[in-house]
Amino acid sequence: MFFNSISLLILFITYAVAQFVPPPTDLKTVQGAGGITVRYKEVPTGTCETNPNVKSYSGYADVGPNQHIFFWFFEARAVNATQAPLTVRLDGGPGASSMNGLFQEIGPCTIDAAGNVVNNPYSWSNNSNMLFIDQPATVGFSYTIATKATQSSRTFVITPTDTCTTADPGCGTYSSPDTTLTPNSTQEAAVGFYNAMQGFMGAFPQYAANGVHINTASYGGHYGPIFADYIVKQNKVKAAGTVDIPLKTLMIENGFYDTRVQFAAYYNYTVSPGNTYNLNPYTAAQEQQLYTNIWGAGGCQDQQAKCNANPPPADIDNVCAAADTFCVAEVEDFFDINARRNEDDVRELAPDPFPPTYYVDYLNKANVLQAIGATTNFTQASVQTFFAFNSTGDDSRTGAIINTAMQTILQEGVTVTTFAGDADYDSNWIGGQVVANNVNAPGWTQAGFVNLTTTDGVVRGQTRQADGFSFTRVYFAGHEAPFYQPEATLQMFERAISGMDIATGKMPMALGKNVTTQGTQSSTFMEGPGTIQTTVTPAGSTYNTTTHAPNVAPAQKAKSRFVVSEELVPPPTKVRVTHKKFKKLLVEERRARKEASRKP
Ligand SMILES: *[C@@H]1O[C@H](CO)[C@@H](O)[C@H](O)[C@H]1NC(C)=O
Ligand SMILES: *[C@@H]1O[C@H](CO)[C@@H](O)[C@H](O)[C@H]1NC(C)=O
Ligand SMILES: *[C@@H]1O[C@H](CO)[C@@H](O)[C@H](O)[C@H]1NC(C)=O
Ligand SMILES: *[C@@H]1O[C@H](CO)[C@@H](O)[C@H](O)[C@H]1NC(C)=O
Ligand SMILES: *[C@@H]1O[C@H](CO)[C@@H](O)[C@H](O)[C@H]1NC(C)=O
Ligand SMILES: *[C@@H]1O[C@H](CO)[C@@H](O)[C@H](O)[C@H]1NC(C)=O
Ligand SMILES: *[C@@H]1O[C@H](CO)[C@@H](O)[C@H](O)[C@H]1NC(C)=O
Ligand SMILES: *[C@@H]1O[C@H](CO)[C@@H](O)[C@H](O)[C@H]1NC(C)=O
Ligand SMILES: *[C@@H]1O[C@H](CO)[C@@H](O)[C@H](O)[C@H]1NC(C)=O
Repeated sequence: MFFNSISLLILFITYAVAQFVPPPTDLKTVQGAGGITVRYKEVPTGTCETNPNVKSYSGYADVGPNQHIFFWFFEARAVNATQAPLTVRLDGGPGASSMNGLFQEIGPCTIDAAGNVVNNPYSWSNNSNMLFIDQPATVGFSYTIATKATQSSRTFVITPTDTCTTADPGCGTYSSPDTTLTPNSTQEAAVGFYNAMQGFMGAFPQYAANGVHINTASYGGHYGPIFADYIVKQNKVKAAGTVDIPLKTLMIENGFYDTRVQFAAYYNYTVSPGNTYNLNPYTAAQEQQLYTNIWGAGGCQDQQAKCNANPPPADIDNVCAAADTFCVAEVEDFFDINARRNEDDVRELAPDPFPPTYYVDYLNKANVLQAIGATTNFTQASVQTFFAFNSTGDDSRTGAIINTAMQTILQEGVTVTTFAGDADYDSNWIGGQVVANNVNAPGWTQAGFVNLTTTDGVVRGQTRQADGFSFTRVYFAGHEAPFYQPEATLQMFERAISGMDIATGKMPMALGKNVTTQGTQSSTFMEGPGTIQTTVTPAGSTYNTTTHAPNVAPAQKAKSRFVVSEELVPPPTKVRVTHKKFKKLLVEERRARKEASRKP
């Protein structure tokens, strides 16, 4: 009897403990630049990078007593890494982990349905060192204070507890739920990012000696310009102990930059002039309703104007947070509710299985967490960062600052490459084009659209470029454009970082060369409805980058195994990376885990 109770107790403790992440014991501590401590380890071959000759490191830059920024670095694999440039990847959100970009888009590997590592032949690490950073603290593997807790699958709220067990799928180690520990604005996040870069570059100077490039996506339309502007300014300050960050390129994928422009563009993309897939999702009455929600008295545009008034409103945090909340609910989500399609790829009905999220489960395996030296479990989206940014209305109040930042960094010789997959509604290309026009880059009005052609001779989009500034519309691509057009986006990236024109890669195009692309004033290519799906694509299907349509999983052709439950209303869609998508991203993560747990 006595022994039985003891072994039960031991069993219970083992169970409870297994859910939490044991603190890593094998991290090396070094001093980076700017007074930033870096703790890291070499990641064993096979944990993402499969080539034993290519090194990979992960760890934390401790940018504050309670701000630990996670990074995962991969050496360039087709060239000598110490002679390659350094590219930093930042996902958006706010709150989205850059592991999304790593495993779903541009990193050395993806994860398949069985949880295996699969090499990505289109990895951006071929000719550049790649550094994936989870920021601000609380995002992905980054943390403020590591806390044993459970996360509610309904509200996503994190509740500290030492006693949850495997019976609770939300049990794990998380960043503290205290939102006051994390930045609440893009400007504040810029400081943490700059310091994380100081830490990394001081610890690994050999990988950053040949220029630094930033690649960012979605809410990265906020992060990218403001972070780059901050770097350029700090380089001039030359604070003691810091290193210069030789920033050359800012590349923004499906960016969400300016709410004043991009909320209205939801109407343009779905109604007038409409998208290039001939998708007309609304009835005449719905079109009218959407118009009123945007341009009617007290509607989205009025609220955006109030938030961005000069002088600013006294209670700017609340005015801007309310404006953003209204525009998301009444304008952006109008599509999700009425069209029941994926905002990130309008060709797919919700729920859309692309890009797959098998990597979430992979990253929460005890052996993988140990291999990368993680302190916490992995979450795709940070509730803390979302709440913190929402509390200041960051999304809606930064459009003008972003525009100025892009002008400033261009003047400083930084190449700014923007692009958008044209099947994305979320950060759609119609709005992206207006944002690009508003930058008013030197020579821009004389530039026109030319074909974007990859080295295989295929036309995959159109680019308008004036010196170092460009905007590209990528055909047949959703929000995470590299997933759908890996070859085109890889070549655009390599052209951008080598200072060549985006459309052909043959002409040097940087500041002061006074070169513009000569072509039509608008991009008129129409894909038409051929790739629009009229039934839900079953989970387990793969995306065919040649036909631009799903290869439907044969076993599931008849009926999807995964039934959408009522708790997933509004319709779940794929990875959501602007701030209002946050909740959907979490719903998505939950669905991915459910699917994984049902795997035979
Ligand atoms: C990337 O490099 C690997 C070998 O280092 C090569 O096999 C692969 O074809 C390259 N990919 C591209 C898209 O050039
Ligand atoms: C890589 O480049 C570095 C620095 O130029 C050089 O010292 C090293 O020998 C090179 N490594 C190889 C394998 O060529
Ligand atoms: C968007 O639609 C509005 C309302 O019809 C129109 O005034 C505006 O010019 C359109 N913008 C673009 C970029 O098409
Ligand atoms: C975001 O802020 C607005 C305005 O304060 C509030 O109404 C809304 O509930 C907040 N959203 C979340 C999810 O906290
Ligand atoms: C957290 O990580 C542990 C492994 O260290 C794992 O057993 C547990 O399931 C994870 N929790 C969640 C919520 O993923
Ligand atoms: C945002 O953070 C700043 C700096 O920590 C703080 O002063 C401010 O009160 C915060 N704003 C809100 C709405 O919490
Ligand atoms: C651009 O590409 C289209 C196909 O998308 C082709 O029809 C057209 O001729 C090309 N234009 C030029 C100038 O090559
Ligand atoms: C580009 O134009 C500027 C302003 O007109 C001029 O000063 C500069 O010399 C030109 N550069 C080249 C390479 O022609
Ligand atoms: C894509 O579709 C084409 C045409 O149906 C087919 O030949 C090809 O094998 C598919 N590619 C993949 C990767 O499934």
